[in-house]
Amino acid sequence: MKIAFYVFSASGNTRKVCGRIADELIGRGNEVSVFSIAKNAKIQPPAEFDAVCIAYPVHGFNAPVPVLNFAKSLQSGRGKGYYIVKTSGEPLSLNDDSSRVLRRIMARHDYIFKGEFHYVMPYNMIFRHSDKMAALMWRAACNVIPSDAGIIAASADKSKFEDVGGAAKAARKVFAVEHVGMPLLGRFYRVDEAKCLHCEKCVRVCPVGNISVKDGKIAFGKNCVGCSACAFNCPVDAVRTGILNKWKVNGAYDFGAESPDDATETDVCAYCHKAYMEYFASHGVKIAPAKE
Ligand SMILES: Cc1cc2nc3c(=O)[nH]c(=O)nc-3n(C[C@H](O)[C@H](O)[C@H](O)COP(=O)(O)O)c2cc1C
Repeated sequence: MKIAFYVFSASGNTRKVCGRIADELIGRGNEVSVFSIAKNAKIQPPAEFDAVCIAYPVHGFNAPVPVLNFAKSLQSGRGKGYYIVKTSGEPLSLNDDSSRVLRRIMARHDYIFKGEFHYVMPYNMIFRHSDKMAALMWRAACNVIPSDAGIIAASADKSKFEDVGGAAKAARKVFAVEHVGMPLLGRFYRVDEAKCLHCEKCVRVCPVGNISVKDGKIAFGKNCVGCSACAFNCPVDAVRTGILNKWKVNGAYDFGAESPDDATETDVCAYCHKAYMEYFASHGVKIAPAKE
């Protein structure tokens, strides 16, 4: 089977998860292509594949705008099935409705929704998770990816989150304001000239081409989608993200720096502690009680 992944990923979490699923699928004899959802990225259309996965990080309880625009740009799927792969920083069910608009657009383009896979990965905004938490999250994802890949390889249906609660629906609607708000907030992004190396990594990683060099200085345009790729990937933490700066996370996570094997309850962050504990338990990750 030929399978395509169309991936939006600002800090690499969603790409990492898709890479692991792709490895599983390849190991089962499938041919897998992974394409970036980004400006000027070269892609082959879904029509050339037997199965399609669209992958994104949850942004404000919604799918990011470039993912919705990608779906809008598709030709008719002629009844082709597709899966959604999503990552989010917290395991709250408030994230469960994030794919609703994407699914609506895909249905309009005659694609059949076959289900979605949700993995919790470290925050690239709000606060930095510890290396231990990153290791636990990656262990949780790796524990379920073989069976998730099996579903995709078999073109089987997965549960469809149709029964999300009212809170998730409300959160998605309220936070959709981010879609109109970010282009405005993004105009206040700046680089700290005293720190900036002018390596132009921010220009290269911006998935919507919103960052350029003008008169030798990094300039932010009017189309920011707030994905955090620029701030997260800057090698010297020189990007200032306006009123969002206190929530900024900079620098790649090292998923192998800590072992998940000796984790105790105190390693699980206090924020949403119960929800993370439940998520790890349901994904086969053992966590010992806190030491006395
Ligand atoms: C603008 C923005 C909004 C976010 N909103 C949410 C959210 O509503 N819920 C959540 O659990 N995580 C949220 N996150 C965290 C990301 O979903 C999470 O870190 C994800 O794994 C990042 O994936 P990526 O590295 O592929 O971009 C948000 C991150 C950003 C940058």
